Amino acid sequence: MKRTMFAVIAVLMVLSLVLTGCQQEEETLKIGILVPLSGEVKTFGESTRNGAMLAFEAAIADGLDIEIVVADSKCDAQEGANAANKLIFEDGVSMILGPVCSGAAIPVSEIAQANDVLMLTATATNPSVTINEDGSNKDMIFRACFLDPFQGTVVAKLAIDDLGAQTCAILYDMGDDYVKGLAEYIQSSFTDLGGEVLVYEAYTSTDTDFSAILGKVAAADPDVIFIPDYYDKVNLIAAQLVEKGIEKPLIGCDGWDSAELNTELISEGYFSNHYSPADERAIVQDFIANYEAAYGTQPDALATLGYDAANMLIQAIKEADSTDATAIRDALAAEEFEGVSGNITFDANGDPIKSAAVVQIQDGVISFYKFVAP
Ligand code: PHE
Repeated sequence: MKRTMFAVIAVLMVLSLVLTGCQQEEETLKIGILVPLSGEVKTFGESTRNGAMLAFEAAIADGLDIEIVVADSKCDAQEGANAANKLIFEDGVSMILGPVCSGAAIPVSEIAQANDVLMLTATATNPSVTINEDGSNKDMIFRACFLDPFQGTVVAKLAIDDLGAQTCAILYDMGDDYVKGLAEYIQSSFTDLGGEVLVYEAYTSTDTDFSAILGKVAAADPDVIFIPDYYDKVNLIAAQLVEKGIEKPLIGCDGWDSAELNTELISEGYFSNHYSPADERAIVQDFIANYEAAYGTQPDALATLGYDAANMLIQAIKEADSTDATAIRDALAAEEFEGVSGNITFDANGDPIKSAAVVQIQDGVISFYKFVAP
């Protein structure tokens, strides 16, 4: 009798040891969503998070063992780095979806790479997000969007070919990696295509009075004005252009994509973007319907890219069938993904090659203009 009891206890002890062992191995995979939820461009973070959560919640309901932690990067290098350190060292995430802004994504990519954390930014378009200064690849870092040299060419070509521009002004924030990079790409594309850059003027992120720069623009009288900045700055500059009576087509890039862009200030404008609700593919129309049912608004490009990026991670986790970030990285790198924002396969740097959707603003009204293939 005693013997059997000992045997039973022993078996139970071994069983519980095995079970706890298994449990440790199958620890829930933690994923950080790192996006700007406060500050000047918080619509970027809200949209990206909403799009990503639509995908993650569906996967969790489907039985995928993941936990999501959301953090605020504020579209800022230091805030982004602090939040990434907290996600990695306090919350124990092994993957990060984000940051949105290149200025935050570049420093966070370095932290992620150094700590074997997989990072997939849905939206950061500056080349330095995925490559080191010496040109080598950051092998834990990927993105779901096209890059700035491409969108710089798209808008420069649009100005020359579609609007017949021969001259331009380019205004840019010299302290922002995304804006400064884009200004350079637009400048070189516009010049290569035979155009002349009459005004190339920098401001700083805290500037609110642009009268000196706009005085130079008025004097030079360019055919178009490029403002490759985020929507909050575009609103400020566009208001002062109206005040000064400068009426030229305004051209920007994906940073204009916000419900808070003050389109009423823009009589003629264009910007490059990552998706259009006018895209008739079923995958796009189904996503729009699902998103509207969940949030009551039409998804913007950030929501769409957030959704695509989350689904790419989900697919990689399932394919790897492991919680190991390096195994998931290998699965992600090999993915052929059909996204709402277009098909995504990565090149050797972890960058996809994708089309741009150009958006037009006419007397304050936004509409789809055209797709541009790479
Ligand atoms: N591309 C921007 C950046 O790199 C972020 C962005 C993407 C903003 C899409 C709006 C829409 O900083």
